[in-house]
Amino acid sequence: MSEHKTFYITTPIYYPSDKLHIGHSYTTVACDALARFKRMQGYDVMFLTGTDEHGQKIQDKAADAGVTPKEYVDKIVATVKDLWKLLDVSYDRFIRTTDDYHMESCQKIFTKLYEQGDIYKGEYIGHYCKPCESFWTDSQLVDGKCPDCGREVYDAHEEAYFFKTSKYADRLLKLYEENPQFIQPESRKNEMIAFIKQGLQDTCVSRTSVKWGIPVPFDPKHTMYVWVDALSNYISALGYGNEKYHDYDKFWPADLHMVGKEILRFHTILWPAMLMALDLPLPKHLAVHGWITFNGQKMSKSIGNVVDPLVLGERYGADAIRYHILREMALGADSSFSNEIMINRINADLANDLGNLVSRTVAMAEKYFGGTLPECREADEELDASLIDPALELRDKVAAYMDQTQLNNALAEIFKVISRANKYIDETTPWILGKDESRKARLASVLYNLLEVIRITTTL
Ligand code: MSP
Repeated sequence: MSEHKTFYITTPIYYPSDKLHIGHSYTTVACDALARFKRMQGYDVMFLTGTDEHGQKIQDKAADAGVTPKEYVDKIVATVKDLWKLLDVSYDRFIRTTDDYHMESCQKIFTKLYEQGDIYKGEYIGHYCKPCESFWTDSQLVDGKCPDCGREVYDAHEEAYFFKTSKYADRLLKLYEENPQFIQPESRKNEMIAFIKQGLQDTCVSRTSVKWGIPVPFDPKHTMYVWVDALSNYISALGYGNEKYHDYDKFWPADLHMVGKEILRFHTILWPAMLMALDLPLPKHLAVHGWITFNGQKMSKSIGNVVDPLVLGERYGADAIRYHILREMALGADSSFSNEIMINRINADLANDLGNLVSRTVAMAEKYFGGTLPECREADEELDASLIDPALELRDKVAAYMDQTQLNNALAEIFKVISRANKYIDETTPWILGKDESRKARLASVLYNLLEVIRITTTL
């Protein structure tokens, strides 16, 4: 099937430092919806997700739990996979950064960058934020705290390897300028331009104090910085630098990396700079989404205000949760989560609008025709067109929104047609037609149109 158009979509790989919450589910479910849509359009899709398992934070968590880091992550990764199963996530590949083939690729990448002079040895003096796994200089701190999450940072002072990010500043600016679609939504692009123009520093890419990481092959007292390890997953999972897979030529460059706003910088600066240094093509798009918030704060494991999607899934079912998070979240904006908003959505849209449409239509098809419509039909051109036309235009509208990763707008369009169909029932009054033998052909037409609209909307 290699003649098919391909589509490579990735989620960020999640930290298995704790169980995942509904915020993480959003990214994955959004990618899943896109992957399914592209498959339906005939694309040969590679949908990648996985877990980002190294770093100080996981090392600490495992120590607290009295187990090895690998034992610790193995347990959490099992719950991550359960969660994706519960939420009907159709990923094609699941990468763990502790997988041998991935570690092998990372070591090759690191060595190549070192040998060609893009990585050099120096001394790191600065600050480290453990929850974010980020290094900061004095000037980057905000009130002495991590500029991303506002938490305490630790002084760090040690021999380290650096990647020459600064060397790529001009090429990065050119990349954003020449590809306005590279970062979606575009507002995020200006943020990155401003950040680079402030002056880009080289990135510290190894630590001697962090033991739980991929060893630097030519200097094994160092482990690789987790973000170099993590970002490489997008190509190691295709077989770049390893023999486990052979899909690199087929799927790289990625069509879409979906990322939350707090990890945008790694994907717009470090990752493209690494790829430029490796002389590899760059991903086509980065879609940046906001956060699911709870009482106005980012829902987060370390803040502790999380909603457990396993509990929700068992209570409401995968479809209801998937629908709710995709319908509520606008790309780029934050969206607050509450049970009340979710239950209202399920009741209003799924049970009332869609549920009633399906149950009324199917019940009438049964009652009046025993479940099979006769071929003899009678149209009411104008009235029927007011339902059929928007239904026929729907596929292209939805496809356009999906291409811009505006899943909430795609769903809104679908539900406009569903709502039109409910009004069409009220306008055509099939229960009156059903009482009159001479109107059977008209009744069959009405029910046919409704069933066809149900087919189109539910498929989409
Ligand atoms: N491991 C890194 C990503 C490496 S990708 C090469 C990481 N992991 S994470 O588990 O902290 O976050 C993964 C994704 O989940 C991020 O895109 C993040 O934005 C998303 N979310 C985490 N909490 C979220 C919300 N409350 N709401 C929406 N998305 C959130 O970062």
